[in-house]
Amino acid sequence: MTDTGPSSSTQFPDGFRWGTATAAHQIEGGNWNNHWWAWEHTEGSGTAEPSGDACDSWHRWSEDADLVASFGLDNYRFSIEWSRIEPEDGEISGAALDHYQRVCDGLRERGVEPVVTFHHFTLPRWLADRGGWEHRDAPERFAAFCERAATRLGPTMGRACTLNEPNIVAFCGYLLGVFPPGERDSKRFAAMNDVLIDAHRRSVAAIRAAAPGVPVGMTLSMTEWVAVDGGEDRLDRYRHHMEDVYLAATGGDDFLGVQTYSRSRVGPSGNLGPEDGVPTLAMGYEFWPQALEATIRRAWHVTGGNVPLLVTENGIGTDDDDQRIDYVHQALEGVLRAIADGIDVGGYTYWSLLDNFEWAFGYRPRFGLTSVDRTTFARLPKPSASWLGEIARNNRLSPEPS
Ligand code: GCO
Repeated sequence: MTDTGPSSSTQFPDGFRWGTATAAHQIEGGNWNNHWWAWEHTEGSGTAEPSGDACDSWHRWSEDADLVASFGLDNYRFSIEWSRIEPEDGEISGAALDHYQRVCDGLRERGVEPVVTFHHFTLPRWLADRGGWEHRDAPERFAAFCERAATRLGPTMGRACTLNEPNIVAFCGYLLGVFPPGERDSKRFAAMNDVLIDAHRRSVAAIRAAAPGVPVGMTLSMTEWVAVDGGEDRLDRYRHHMEDVYLAATGGDDFLGVQTYSRSRVGPSGNLGPEDGVPTLAMGYEFWPQALEATIRRAWHVTGGNVPLLVTENGIGTDDDDQRIDYVHQALEGVLRAIADGIDVGGYTYWSLLDNFEWAFGYRPRFGLTSVDRTTFARLPKPSASWLGEIARNNRLSPEPS
């Protein structure tokens, strides 16, 4: 049972990194050449609304970089869009690579370290049309794309994330059916885990060869799994496919990005959903900030303490910014407790910099430290931005929110 009292210290270790994150398709706008754009316009996909112009960050990236720097954060995790860099099979856009190079250089000019995600849920339509990740050459093609992009961006990258939440790509795309290609097939889901693990391993090698010295790892969606009334066996089965197979594939990586939002309650017949009396959020899961500590501890345990951890996503979709501050404060208390117990957690990244396109949920859930006017694209920082920025600048957890 994890002690849930405040940790003895509110000081984070020297060198602890403080960042925020986004993803290309969720903020750039106009990413029409990837399979998520097609999915959003597919009858029956269930997507609440199309991504459209998103936050117009393809054009306004320097405004985003200014925001990150103004908050006092030292790194910014963003993704590069494969369909822009390789719009057709084998055709590379030098202009798109130039763009992402400008983003990396612009961040560094502002004293912000670029953390580059090479795949954040989207595939080029030319690959999706041939089966997407089920195409036999997909992992190899992804590694070739990584090699091209990493050769260009090279040492301007502070850190490289290969695949964002491969477990969600497999689960939502091939079992739940709410992500493209919208399949509900347990065999294809299990096989997809193997494909994405292969893609991860290949892309680690490709990025290391192209950008020696840049730390590389995957980012994994994790949840605090709780068995209820005899749900242990079912929980073990779920957790094996959703997390353990990926945790086992991180050996030799420079880091593992832990991405946690809430917990999952599992009974003998499956997921139980939120517990009565626990507040729930816009996406239907519980307000449960303590899940971050639980997942950090489990990742550390399962990987044998051999892979340094980073929190590469943690946040809350809410219109109540005080609730956001409360959530993050509790989550960070858990991070401090894990660090106090000797777990190597190198940084915390708040998801997200901006209110953005939340995939199947559209623009309703607002995770951002910054609101974005959907018409003018004007950015307006929320109070949580300066609150988190003060913690980052001091490298110390501020007093309990009033
Ligand atoms: C994910 C993705 C992000 C989400 C975030 C909030 O975990 O689904 O990494 O793109 O926007 O997690 O749900």
